[in-house]
Amino acid sequence: MNRHLSKSIQSLRPSGIRRYFDIAATMDDVVTLGIGEPDFVTPAHIVAAGVESLHDGLTGYTSNAGIPELRAAISAQIAQRYGLRYSPESEVLVTVGVSEALFLALKVLLDPGDEVLVVEPCFVANPALVQTAGGVPVMVPTSVETDFQVTRAELEARVTPRTKAILLSYPSNPTGAVLTREHMLEVAQVAEEYDLVVISDEIYERLVYGIEHINFATLPSMFERAIVLSGMSKSYAMTGWRVGYVTAPAAFTEAMYKIHQYLIMSAPTMGQVASLRAICHGEDDVESMRREYDRRRSLIVDGFNRLGLTCFEPRGAFYAFPSIEITGMHDEAFCEALLQEERLALIPGSAFGDSGRGFVRASYATSEANILEALDRLERFLLKHGIAKRAAAPEFAA
Ligand SMILES: Cc1ncc(COP(=O)(O)O)c(C=O)c1O
Repeated sequence: MNRHLSKSIQSLRPSGIRRYFDIAATMDDVVTLGIGEPDFVTPAHIVAAGVESLHDGLTGYTSNAGIPELRAAISAQIAQRYGLRYSPESEVLVTVGVSEALFLALKVLLDPGDEVLVVEPCFVANPALVQTAGGVPVMVPTSVETDFQVTRAELEARVTPRTKAILLSYPSNPTGAVLTREHMLEVAQVAEEYDLVVISDEIYERLVYGIEHINFATLPSMFERAIVLSGMSKSYAMTGWRVGYVTAPAAFTEAMYKIHQYLIMSAPTMGQVASLRAICHGEDDVESMRREYDRRRSLIVDGFNRLGLTCFEPRGAFYAFPSIEITGMHDEAFCEALLQEERLALIPGSAFGDSGRGFVRASYATSEANILEALDRLERFLLKHGIAKRAAAPEFAA
């Protein structure tokens, strides 16, 4: 390691996901359920709005906090969906995806050595960005036995005088779990009792199945302590446009704005124009993609269960998180062997934190044909290793 690099960057571990993509990239005919982004392209009318903005000469920076019309539209959408009132002028900040928003939120809260309770298994960036912002991630485990719900007891056991915040992301990547109102209230109680801020990454808020999403800031007394992050990437199939946003009381957004204006200037202009179109006219698109994910969700969850890989029922996002306990293999060894032998890419659960060990993440943001082919390959692998029952075979004939 280069001696010039800071200790904090030297101690940052590379993402456990990347490795599998690197291996897969060297192989032909790989079927991947590894990718955490929509397989849909951005709806055509949204693309057209972005393209038109270029032809109209909107090729410069926007106001630092984001184009006013977009901030107003975000504020109005949140008011309509959740009854929350955020001032478009001072309480909405448009960022380069939730990724930037998450970093800013952490950066404005943490002094060196401050601790953040990071509920896991979680998005790989969560502990890494806490560390990058100068803090210490304190991982808070959840388990399949409690439907990956975080509890008051698990949080409280890890609070210290250095704890500044709780970082939640539900609907969850990688488990697909959605936090119940009851468990949200437990988190809120801990936040109040120990005077903590809650950073709630709700990027999958629109992708829920058979339940309502609850915005964390709607809980009693939580508006003042919640920094809520969301964005365009997953709901509108707009990952490449790089637009996210923060809604929070002005004290937080104004602090975040200070870094944002120096670091970023403004989120991509074309992306912001397209996002405005999406928020104002993209409702049917969100719903039709959500319905399609829901269909695939049943297909993949049933498929895993039939093969004997017990799968917790995901209620949000677009991931299934089956247990591979019956294989007796470590999840990394399992994924590596599956990739080498059957050219099927899944992500080991332990890449998302220790409580993901013994599970694998399978994204169903992919075609039905790919899901069926993946289940076929998985079955062949399990049979070869003496794990699966042959009875499952006809179900998955492509
Ligand atoms: C939980 C979670 N948060 C944030 C992100 C990144 O989102 P964005 O594209 O808005 O930066 C992802 C992407 O996979 C995610 O799964």
